[in-house]
Amino acid sequence: MVSINETLDQALNLDAADSWSLGEKSFAEIVGLLKDLDPKRILEFGSGVSSVRFALRLPDCEITSVEHDRFYADKTESLKNTYHASNLKLIYSPLNSRWFGLTPYRTYSFKPEPIEFDGIIIDGPPGAVKGGREACLYFVYQHLKIGGFVFLDDYERSEEQRAIRHWLETYADSFEFFEIQGRHRVAVLRKMQHVKPKMMTAARIGHNFRCQFGKFIAGKKGCL
Ligand SMILES: C[S@@+](CC[C@H](N)C(=O)[O-])C[C@H]1O[C@@H](n2cnc3c(N)ncnc32)[C@H](O)[C@@H]1O
Repeated sequence: MVSINETLDQALNLDAADSWSLGEKSFAEIVGLLKDLDPKRILEFGSGVSSVRFALRLPDCEITSVEHDRFYADKTESLKNTYHASNLKLIYSPLNSRWFGLTPYRTYSFKPEPIEFDGIIIDGPPGAVKGGREACLYFVYQHLKIGGFVFLDDYERSEEQRAIRHWLETYADSFEFFEIQGRHRVAVLRKMQHVKPKMMTAARIGHNFRCQFGKFIAGKKGCL
C-alpha cells in the first residue's frame, strides 16, 4: 500500500476526474458509513477511480469491482497497479440478458460467491443501459448482510428514482432509505432485515418489457 494524499493526487481525485466519477463528498460520506461497520467485503458495480480509492481508504476490506467494458476494466487495473491497491479485485463481466420476476434485464453476468457484503455500491452500468442498475440488486440482495448498505449513484435521474421505488416495493420493510447530497445525489438503503422478494405487479412487468424492447416497438419512449 503506498502512502499518498489521495485528494492531492489528480489521478485519484474524484472531483478532478471526469464527471462520471462519484465525487469527493459522496465518497467521504460513504466511507464514513461503511467504516462504522468495520467492513470486510464491499461490492461495486461500475469501476473507476472510486474502486482504487475505496481500496486505499479501507485497506482491511476486500473491494470487488465489477466492470462490463474491457477498456475501463483495463484502465482501472492499471490504476490499481500504480497505487498497489492489492485488496481490490476487478472482475470483467460483460452485460447480458437476465431474468428476474418474469422480466428480462440487460445487466452484468456476474454471479457472486456465497459470501456476504457489508456494502454494495451501484454506479454502473451507464445510464443508457435502462434497468441495468436496478437489476444489480435483484441478483445480490441475499448477499447483503443485515445492517449493510446499498448506495445508488446518480439518484437525480428518473431511472435511478424508479429503481429505488421498485426495490422498496420488491423488498417491502427490508430497508431504511436516506440520501447523500454530493456531486450527484446518492440514494442509500440500509438493510434492516432479510425479506422474501414480492411478486411484481402485472403493470410493472408490462412496463419493464416496454422498457427493454421499446426500441423495437416505438423508440425508447415510455421507459421511465
Ligand atoms: C459512472 S461510471 C463508474 C465510475 C466509478 N464508479 C467512479 O466513481 O470512478 C459507470 C461506467 O461507465 C463507464 N465509464 C467510466 N468512465 C467513462 C467515461 N469517461 N465515458 C464513458 N463511459 C465511462 C465504465 O464502464 C463504468 O463502469
